[in-house]
Amino acid sequence: MDGKMIQLATVCAFAISLASTGPIFAAQAGPKGKPAAKTTSPRELVQSDRVLIIGHRGASAYAPENTLASFKLAVQQKADMVEDDFYATKDGKMIAIHDSTLDRTTDACKKWGGKKILVRSKTLAELQELDAGSWKDPKFAGERLPTNQAATLAILQGSVPLLERKGGTPEQTLEDLKAIDAVEKVVVQAFDWKYLRELHQLEPKIVLGALGGGEITNPKIRVIKKTGASAIGWDHKDLTEESIQRVHAAGLKAWAYTVDDEAEMKRLIAAGIDGIISNKPDVARKVVESVKGR
Ligand code: G3P
Ligand code: CA
Repeated sequence: MDGKMIQLATVCAFAISLASTGPIFAAQAGPKGKPAAKTTSPRELVQSDRVLIIGHRGASAYAPENTLASFKLAVQQKADMVEDDFYATKDGKMIAIHDSTLDRTTDACKKWGGKKILVRSKTLAELQELDAGSWKDPKFAGERLPTNQAATLAILQGSVPLLERKGGTPEQTLEDLKAIDAVEKVVVQAFDWKYLRELHQLEPKIVLGALGGGEITNPKIRVIKKTGASAIGWDHKDLTEESIQRVHAAGLKAWAYTVDDEAEMKRLIAAGIDGIISNKPDVARKVVESVKGR
């Protein structure tokens, strides 16, 4: 089997393993590893009154970020949404990885020599030769860089994908999602608000989140509204009760990244936050349940 087949087979096996565990948003596996017809609507989820638990790069405190192992763990920890980051490869495929270079989270430098090896300088086939797990722990040796499609399908087995575009065009994002019938099953977020606006113009059905940090000013909120975003994902340090109220007054939800500290989670919940993006979705869920009693 080639790398793509191995990933799809892994996703199918994961779907079967989830069928008995019944996470809140569990979906049954569809044919050929595709998501089943009945999945949680991202639009409804984003509009819900609950404080959403969002796994950051999966459950990346415990498993190598942006790998299937990490996404599966976040689903098992009952994250409402699971984030991945994606770039475009040299041959125009979307691949899950956070950095623009391969150095930190793969064995690319050891395997090929050199430094600062750009994701976009390699084809998908080349990238899928890499070990994306050993850097975290030898027990994850052999984890591959998943395609954005494989990541999306894995997350859809029990949660909602929150796909953060790091590279690639709006057209490439749309094509990638259409190919697996996931246009209305995901949320796409980005720091690049021009990209969001263009993606919204191409396909208004995609639910969007606008990422940022610093002071949340009214001019920033006005620009975000023009992107068609339903939520902001903001640096947690810049979120206060007052700024969250301003976001809500504009008809947007407010999610905080990246929060692993329990006291900070509690502060944000008291301030009115709508979602906590955490490397430890299990901890975030415990805190939300202790405060909100759900
Ligand atoms: O989910 C938002 C957060 O992931 C943005 O920052 O650098 O971790 O992608 P970064
Ligand atoms: Ca991210």
